[in-house]
Amino acid sequence: MDYKSRTKVSRILIDDSVPVGSNVIVLGWVRTLRSSKEVAFIEINDGSSMKNIQCVIQNPESFPVLEQILTGASVRVEGTLIASAGKGQKYEVAVKRIDLAGPADATYPLQKKRHTMEFLREIAHIRPRTNTFGAVNRIRSKMAYAVHTYFQERGFYYIHTPIISTSDCEGAGNLFHVSSLDFQNIPKKEGRIDWDADFFATESYLTVSGQLEGELLATALGDIYTFGPTFRAENSNTSRHAAEFWMIEPEMAWADLDDNMDLAEDFLKYLFNYALQKCTDEMDFFGQWIDKDVRSTLESVAAAKFERLPYTEAVSILEKSDESFQFPVSWGLDLQSEHERFLTEKVFKKPVILYDYPAKIKAFYMRMNDDGKTVRAMDVLVPKVGEIIGGSQREERHDVLLSRMREMGIQNIENYQWYLDIRKYGTVPHAGFGLGFERALMYITGMQNIRDVIPFPRVPRWAKF
Ligand code: 4AD
Ligand code: MG
Repeated sequence: MDYKSRTKVSRILIDDSVPVGSNVIVLGWVRTLRSSKEVAFIEINDGSSMKNIQCVIQNPESFPVLEQILTGASVRVEGTLIASAGKGQKYEVAVKRIDLAGPADATYPLQKKRHTMEFLREIAHIRPRTNTFGAVNRIRSKMAYAVHTYFQERGFYYIHTPIISTSDCEGAGNLFHVSSLDFQNIPKKEGRIDWDADFFATESYLTVSGQLEGELLATALGDIYTFGPTFRAENSNTSRHAAEFWMIEPEMAWADLDDNMDLAEDFLKYLFNYALQKCTDEMDFFGQWIDKDVRSTLESVAAAKFERLPYTEAVSILEKSDESFQFPVSWGLDLQSEHERFLTEKVFKKPVILYDYPAKIKAFYMRMNDDGKTVRAMDVLVPKVGEIIGGSQREERHDVLLSRMREMGIQNIENYQWYLDIRKYGTVPHAGFGLGFERALMYITGMQNIRDVIPFPRVPRWAKF
């Protein structure tokens, strides 16, 4: 079978670059089939775009192979590209020859009816062939490209930070161990695990963030960003948490919290505009099938000035409101997603950047304010999804950082000697943030569960495929 001289369906239906009358070879998977005595219609998708190409077979009885071709089969079709008389498509293929590459029988799980997202998660090996997951996976690729374009065009260098780490950047203790010890026979010393006998001769983990190493590079290259997988063993089975997710972390030397907020707002707006302008087929699909307001939401957010509000003011708005919250609100407590959603959806009706949080509820590396109680933290909250970005200006004063680490009870401060060193040698004000890539994709697509914006989600009790 000749696979070499194929025409991708996107070239025909999206780029409009194949003239009517051309001989075309299409390679793809059968989505639907309809047949009568006189004519058969086969819709084929080859993954190059949302769109299926309709293939028309006159006199189907003279194509005996058709009896073996069912939904899900992979086929090669050769024919002439003609203008389509049917509505909904501009072109179709008048078939001269059709070959079966790989059959699919009636057990193929994606028969014509609509399937629930829950069912599709169970068949994550097959769901990429649905319209929804085709659109999700394509837009995910395009938005990753947008992330790189945004930073590269602005002089940020892309840094690969390690995935195996010996520190807990967020200090939250949600770490997955990395070990080559024999679990049936764990070496012990004085009753405790002897990590010295392990691969790295110390306890090590999958990283929760590339930030700490990102700071080291920013204080050499100026502006950098990371974009890689991060891991959190948070046992929170919510629609917004994954144990493995991708994070984009820019870090800027010579920058303060205002610069950080400006970058975060500009970056998000760029991503939303990119989706609206460069991913039109996918956005049309999401608007029609997933969330009819998704376009207008992105348009309004891209045009809005984000609200910037100190944590202390947010708490007083929440305390004065008549809303009955499930969780208590008072100064010093972390905000829950119901509070964040109230602020973005009911009070401001747009994204809100909260900043200057109580030091006690934030990570050790954030810069202490002069009040001695709050730190230069910021969270960007958006309607429906809640927190999408977390970041801060970093504590660049060696002694202040060291005493903060002691106060927060960080074990083995000597393990952070390298992190402290950049405060000792040529320290500079610097700031950065992390955008959860899947949270951004949820917002852009309107998909409601983080499990459905990553091809193979990892969540509590689920690491299949
Ligand atoms: O707020 P976080 O924990 O911040 C950091 O990790 C900093 N080191 C970032 C920095 O300053 N360089 O996480 C950043 C973002 C969150 O706002 C959220 O969008 C996403 O990462 N995130 C998750 N996404 C999916 N599943 C989870 N379990 C997530 N935890 C955080
Ligand atoms: Mg956070």
